Amino acid sequence: MSGLKLTNVSYSVDETLLLHDINFSQETTGINAILGPNGAGKSLLLSLIHGVIKPSMGLVTWDGISAQKTKLTRGFVFQTPIVLRRSVRANLAYPLKLSKNGTSTAIDTMLELSHLAPLADQPAASLSGGEAQRMAIARALITNPKVLLLDEPCSNLDPASTKLIEAMINNFVKQGGSVFISTHDLAQAKRLADVVLFIEQGNLLEHRPAKEFFDAPTTQEARAYLKGEL
Ligand SMILES: Nc1ncnc2c1ncn2[C@@H]1O[C@H](COP(=O)(O)OP(=O)(O)OP(=O)(O)O)[C@@H](O)[C@H]1O
Ligand SMILES: [Mg+2]
Repeated sequence: MSGLKLTNVSYSVDETLLLHDINFSQETTGINAILGPNGAGKSLLLSLIHGVIKPSMGLVTWDGISAQKTKLTRGFVFQTPIVLRRSVRANLAYPLKLSKNGTSTAIDTMLELSHLAPLADQPAASLSGGEAQRMAIARALITNPKVLLLDEPCSNLDPASTKLIEAMINNFVKQGGSVFISTHDLAQAKRLADVVLFIEQGNLLEHRPAKEFFDAPTTQEARAYLKGEL
């Protein structure tokens, strides 16, 4: 089986079932948007897909190999981006295992692509929210992953920052990468997504081509969510 496959995946903490019997297969191509209300389980699903957490029951595999064991390279940008206490350049050097002052063409390329070149030597802690998001994405991309997982990468960002991040995402996909992105920005999901995964209260209710999902959602929950009533 090529691509991502979740088989009977549940995730619970103590006695609370947070994700319930999730089943789907997805080829690793294009952009997959994970949609659903606050608390639906989007961040948990991204973490399970990545493999940073293990399902309580069931199996997550990439090309038939468990998410814990796969050699498939994945970059993950968390909902609150991690900012290492060092310069922007040194943040990008970190995944390359270079020293804090290390330089490489990969770093310079990423600084350009993320429009952070003028800020390269500033402490990353001084970046604005949008700049920090761009840095976190650049850091996730610098090792050339096959798959990029983005948890609400544009929340609280202005339209120009959002546009820059979408350009980074589209550029990554054009080069053959595949993206799983959670977002509450429905316009963004319409612009970017090839496929939508809609979850509500820990259940995967829809997994369909984005156009079909937005034109004619099949579940009452998705219809309500799209109308802002959920
Ligand atoms: N470690 C944990 N222990 C207990 N409950 C948790 C844990 N992690 C997540 N949850 C709960 O699981 C549910 C889903 O959380 P998750 O962060 O995946 O939601 P989300 O869809 O990403 O929401 P948002 O849109 O607000 O980011 C929430 O109710 C959350 O409180
Ligand atoms: Mg979340």
